[in-house]
Amino acid sequence: MPANRSPFKKSDDLLFDPALIPAALQEKLPSGYVIRPLSRTDNQIRSNTSFLKTLQVLTTVGSISDQAFQDRFTYLKQHSDQYYTIVIEDMNVSSTSPPTPSATPLLVTPGRGKIVGAGTVLVERKFIHELGLVGHIEDIAVSADQQGKKLGQRIIETLMAIGEQVGCYKVILDCSEKNVPFYEKCGFERKGVEMGWYV
Ligand code: ACO
Repeated sequence: MPANRSPFKKSDDLLFDPALIPAALQEKLPSGYVIRPLSRTDNQIRSNTSFLKTLQVLTTVGSISDQAFQDRFTYLKQHSDQYYTIVIEDMNVSSTSPPTPSATPLLVTPGRGKIVGAGTVLVERKFIHELGLVGHIEDIAVSADQQGKKLGQRIIETLMAIGEQVGCYKVILDCSEKNVPFYEKCGFERKGVEMGWYV
């Protein structure tokens, strides 16, 4: 794949323009893996392959109907300059049907493989710092059987690159103590203290 091309085309089904994902990061993934924006079709119920299933390594996801997923996706899409959710799909594992040959060899059909990782950068619009933008990294998840292949690091690098391209002056996140070494490997450093209030 040429260095400046994404294997995905901009589409109404994708949450945001895939051109925001650097092709150089695609190339760092294991063979057959792709990184792309969340797709409207990523809720298709095939055991262990959906986006929501992947998020279960993180916390309780609960029971989300297809309609509820579609409604949430539509909301995010309407705010697509604010929500950038990405997934990593392992195309080596095909789902029920073989991939349809695409119109050009550069195009890959989302949802033909297995989703194995996910993450979001949420862009906050501030008044301070001259109407500055801050990226908040949220909900990073790599399937338990896929951890240790640098997929988590590629997700973070992609979200950092998106944050930088859309104009964030910083990208921040909260994590547990046990994940500090992982984020340090990704280039983050400790800043401040996280506090929470749960209703
Ligand atoms: N402690 C020490 N080092 C770690 C850890 C850890 N817990 N996790 C990863 N690393 C290191 C790896 O060894 C690797 O180091 P290397 O470059 O020397 O080889 C480097 O960090 C990159 O690791 P990856 O292979 O990219 O990590 P992985 O794909 O397994 O993803 C993740 C890490 C996302 C934490 C994954 O384990 C996971 O999904 N855990 C469960 C959910 C979770 O805790 N998510 C993060 C929540 S915080 C948030 O969402 C903002």
